[in-house]
Amino acid sequence: MARRSSLARLAREVRADIGAARERDPSALGVGSVEMVAGWPGIQALLAHRVAHALHVRGVPVLPRAIAYAARALTGIEIHHAARIGERLFIDHGAGVVIGETATIGDGVTLYQGVTLGGTGFETGKRHPTVQDNVTIGSGAKLLGPIEIGHGAKIGANSVVVRDVPPNSTVVGVPGHPVRIDGRRVEGPDTDWIHLPDPVADAMRALSARVAELERMVTELGGTPPAVDPENVLPLRPVRGRNPAGG
Ligand SMILES: CC(C)(COP(=O)(O)OP(=O)(O)OC[C@H]1O[C@@H](n2cnc3c(N)ncnc32)[C@H](O)[C@@H]1OP(=O)(O)O)[C@@H](O)C(=O)NCCC(=O)NCCS
Repeated sequence: MARRSSLARLAREVRADIGAARERDPSALGVGSVEMVAGWPGIQALLAHRVAHALHVRGVPVLPRAIAYAARALTGIEIHHAARIGERLFIDHGAGVVIGETATIGDGVTLYQGVTLGGTGFETGKRHPTVQDNVTIGSGAKLLGPIEIGHGAKIGANSVVVRDVPPNSTVVGVPGHPVRIDGRRVEGPDTDWIHLPDPVADAMRALSARVAELERMVTELGGTPPAVDPENVLPLRPVRGRNPAGG
């Protein structure tokens, strides 16, 4: 009886995982469930994890680790068999995702490739993040330590997060810092973590100004006009918005 209810639960969780991938992956439009299980590494890794975790909870030795190891070899996604994962997790692309032993993930979470839910060193006990419901974690983001990621938060690609994240916030950068909370820009002194001081850019900007001034003086003294039109020179860095260099 208990075995039948565990199987039913497993089947329900896997169905929900496939539904989550279909909902959140535009490329899954019109793709059947069998094809998704065969072709989506995130779904395969989760399926393997759900089986490995159920065996682990029942005290089965060796097999849970072997399943996690095989899933990692197949998908490039490493989920420790003891990690606790809620329903409707979607792991997009997947390669390089690492989810540590004491990590806890709520419902409706989305992870992109290269996400690490890891520890900060050689601690024991609870040492991996707790991610609440409906969190999105961008590609390459590293979340380290027993931190709490509040529900609905978004973690920017390539951020390194080592402190708790408030619910419904957007955190970006290294170290990760909130730039939006409840959709509003975070205000106050020292809150602009995106446009950090850049001494090299500042030095180059000062040199450019001096060269422009020298060119103007040479032109005034009867020399040739500058080859580069100063009007067409891109600013090194705007005060806000996108970097013109695309970085
Ligand atoms: C963070 C993210 C989720 C956007 O969240 P959002 O709440 O809509 O935030 P916004 O787009 O309004 O960005 C807020 C600010 O953070 C900056 N920002 C956004 N993502 C950033 C990142 N990864 N690193 C650094 N800064 C970032 C924006 O430029 C913006 O700056 P501004 O205040 O000067 O305008 C998104 O940028 C992101 O990183 N998504 C991950 C997607 C991904 O990994 N895709 C892989 C597909 S293969």
